Amino acid sequence: MTETNWEARYQANDMPWEKGEPSPGLTDFLAAHPELPRGTVCVPGCGTGHDVRAWARAGFEAEGFDLAPSAIRLSIEKTKAAGLSAHYHLADFLRDKPPRRFDWLFEHTLYCAISPSDRDDYVRAVVRWVKPAGQFLAVHYLIPDKDGPPFGTTREEVLARFSPHFELLEEWVPRSYPNRTGLELMLWWRRS
Ligand SMILES: C[S@@+](CC[C@H](N)C(=O)[O-])C[C@H]1O[C@@H](n2cnc3c(N)ncnc32)[C@H](O)[C@@H]1O
Repeated sequence: MTETNWEARYQANDMPWEKGEPSPGLTDFLAAHPELPRGTVCVPGCGTGHDVRAWARAGFEAEGFDLAPSAIRLSIEKTKAAGLSAHYHLADFLRDKPPRRFDWLFEHTLYCAISPSDRDDYVRAVVRWVKPAGQFLAVHYLIPDKDGPPFGTTREEVLARFSPHFELLEEWVPRSYPNRTGLELMLWWRRS
C-alpha cells in the first residue's frame, strides 16, 4: 500500500500533477470518436476532476473516485462552476467494493501514483469495476523512475498485466502535456 498522504498534498497545494485541463490524449480520443454509444464511466484517482468533466462534456455519465477528501471537494466545486453534471465519491479504488459496474474505466496517473507492489490489486480492481465486455482506456506514463510517485512502468509490463483480462483494441502515443511529450502510451481495451 502506498505511503503517500494524498490529502496532505492537496492541503499543502503540492500538486505537480494538476495541469488545469484533461489529459490531451483523452480530449483527442473523445473528439475522434463521436460514434461511441454514451454510457457510464469510472475515473479512479480523479484528482480535481478534469478528466471526469471531459467525459461528462462528451455526453457520458461520468463518476470520479478519489481517496483524498480535498480532491472530491475541488472536483464538485469545479464541476458546478462549469455547469456540468458528474458525480464524485470518496473511495479507495484498490480496496472498496464498486457502487456499480461501469461501461468504461479511464486510467490517468493513478497507476503511476500507487506503489508498484499494489499493481496486482490495481488490475483486480479494474476487472471488478468494469462490466463484462466493458472498455478500459488508459494513459500510461512510461518513465524509468523507481522512487515515486510517479512510479515508472514499461509497455511490456502493462501489456503483460492487462492481457489476461482484456483484449487490446488499439494502442498509440497520444498528444501530451508539454513535460510528458513522447512519454505516454494509450491503450484501449475491451474486457474479455
Ligand atoms: C497523481 S494524482 C492524479 C490525479 C488526476 N488523475 C490527474 O491526473 O490530475 C493521483 C490521485 O490518485 C488518488 N489516489 C491515490 N491512491 C488512490 C486509491 N487507492 N483510490 C482512489 N484514489 C487514489 C490521489 O488522492 C490523487 O488524487
